[in-house]
Amino acid sequence: MKHTQALIERVRRVSDHLQHLDLAVDRVLMQIKPGQSLFVTPQEPAAGSPYLREQWIPVELFPGRITVEIPARRVYAPGQILSVMAPVGSPIPIRSGIQRLLLIVEGVYPTPLMLLARQLMSGGVAVTLVLGGQATEYPLELLSPEIEILRSDTGWKWPEQMDTLNWADQVLVLAAANRQMEVYRHLYDVLRQLRPHDLPDHLVSGLFYPRLACGAGACQACEVPSNKDTLLACSDGPAIDLKKVQF
Ligand code: FES
Repeated sequence: MKHTQALIERVRRVSDHLQHLDLAVDRVLMQIKPGQSLFVTPQEPAAGSPYLREQWIPVELFPGRITVEIPARRVYAPGQILSVMAPVGSPIPIRSGIQRLLLIVEGVYPTPLMLLARQLMSGGVAVTLVLGGQATEYPLELLSPEIEILRSDTGWKWPEQMDTLNWADQVLVLAAANRQMEVYRHLYDVLRQLRPHDLPDHLVSGLFYPRLACGAGACQACEVPSNKDTLLACSDGPAIDLKKVQF
C-alpha cells in the first residue's frame, strides 16, 4: 500500500444521494483493480471531519484520473487535496473463462461492483444484476445499458431465480452490514442445494465492507469469521469466497 495524494478536479451530483468525484492521482494508483479502494482523508481536515479515513470506491478509471462514487452528504470541492493510502484490499478474484456473471445486491447501493461490471462487459461477459431493498433506489442511469437488471423481493427471491443461479459462472453478493451474514448464508445454502456437485472455489463470494480502522491488516478490527485461516476484509477482501466463511 502506498501513501500518496490526490487532487479533487471535479464534483458532480449524480442523484439525490450520490456524487461523483474526479480525482487526479499518482500514476501508481492507476494500477488499481476492481475490488480495491482508496483510504482517504482530507489533507487539511475541517472541523467535524471523520476521525477515521474513509474507504472510497472507484467506479471509472481514466489515464491519470479516478472517478469515485460517494454519498452526497459529504461536502468536497474542486481543488481540495486528499491524503490517500491505496490500494486497500485485494482485486475481486474472477474465475478463468467466465462468460456469465451474476451480481446480487441487497440493502445497499451496488457501487463496489460497477467498475468490475464495466470491465468484464467490455470483454464480452454477460452481467445480470439483482437489486433488492435500498439497492432498488440506485439511479439506473448510472448503470451500463447492457446490464440485465432484476428485482428481488423481501425474501431475496427474484423471477427465474434458479435459472439465473444455474446460469452463472460466478456469483458475487453484496449486502448491508447489518444483514450481511444472514443474506450470504441464505444464498450460499440455496446454491449448495442447487449445485451440490458444482461449487468450485470463487463460484460464490460475499463482499465485506466493515468500517476500517487501519486499512492495512494491522489491527484485526475487520476480521471476517472464517472456518479456517484468519481473513481480513481490508487485505483478503472485500470479496471472500463463501466456502471459507464461518456462518
Ligand atoms: S482495518 Fe485494521 S486489520 Fe483491517
